[in-house]
Amino acid sequence: MAPLVVENVTKQFRQGDRLVQALNGVSLELCQGQFLAIMGASGSGKSTLLHLMAGLARPDSGRVLINSISIGELSDRELTLFRRRNIGLVFQSFNLIPTLTAEENIGLPLMLEGKNGSTGAAKIGELLESLGLSRRRTHRPDAMSGGEQQRVAIGRALVSDPAVILADEPTGNLDSANSRSVCELLRDLSQIHGKTIVMVTHEPTVAAYAQEVAVLKDGRLIERFATDGMQDGQTLAARYQECVR
Ligand SMILES: Nc1ncnc2c1ncn2[C@@H]1O[C@H](COP(=O)(O)OP(=O)(O)OP(=O)(O)O)[C@@H](O)[C@H]1O
Ligand SMILES: [Mg+2]
Repeated sequence: MAPLVVENVTKQFRQGDRLVQALNGVSLELCQGQFLAIMGASGSGKSTLLHLMAGLARPDSGRVLINSISIGELSDRELTLFRRRNIGLVFQSFNLIPTLTAEENIGLPLMLEGKNGSTGAAKIGELLESLGLSRRRTHRPDAMSGGEQQRVAIGRALVSDPAVILADEPTGNLDSANSRSVCELLRDLSQIHGKTIVMVTHEPTVAAYAQEVAVLKDGRLIERFATDGMQDGQTLAARYQECVR
């Protein structure tokens, strides 16, 4: 069973009196533990696709299946619960709650589920440890670096143990050292912990951490290629340029 399947999705937006075709028949499938990077020019539909996968928006046609559940058929309330349990979301702008500490931000999804007992506390402790944040446990976001804040956001995405992680430019606000540590973390999550990950990025050096790259152009998926032997980013950049030329 593929944990994530996208079947021929389309999505239009109205901009004034103009209709924009943000996605125009995109299909893809990811097996468990696969790490896919989505690249494409600004406006090519990357975030729209990620939002559809997360059930944050509904496609005009086509379907998204997560663990064989067609998420477009869920009610808003069912979708909120489903998302909280099955999908970990990570955004460029960490989206942490400023008044909560690192451990409280990580534990937020458990609190919303009423699962913040001792098992929850142990899980949060484990995550803080594995994310290298044990000494930041009681720090609020404004007392942490960008990299630390993004690791907290990743902890929050992981705390419910979702099968699928969706990340929209997770390194977009990070310097190169922090960016590298977030990329290594995502790679380990797929390779060691079997998480299925989709990550949108503009940066070839970041995409090189994924196993595969899917290229979007004008709302269509025009190419999907493996990153084997492209670890430096330069070969990947050249391959990507070839696709979008
Ligand atoms: N809520 C919206 N209302 C109207 N138009 C939208 C909306 N969201 C996206 N669009 C349009 O859909 C197209 C795809 O947008 P999307 O945000 O998916 O692109 P992107 O590939 O993520 O770009 P970027 O790299 O700049 O983040 C663009 O033309 C955008 O203007
Ligand atoms: Mg975007």
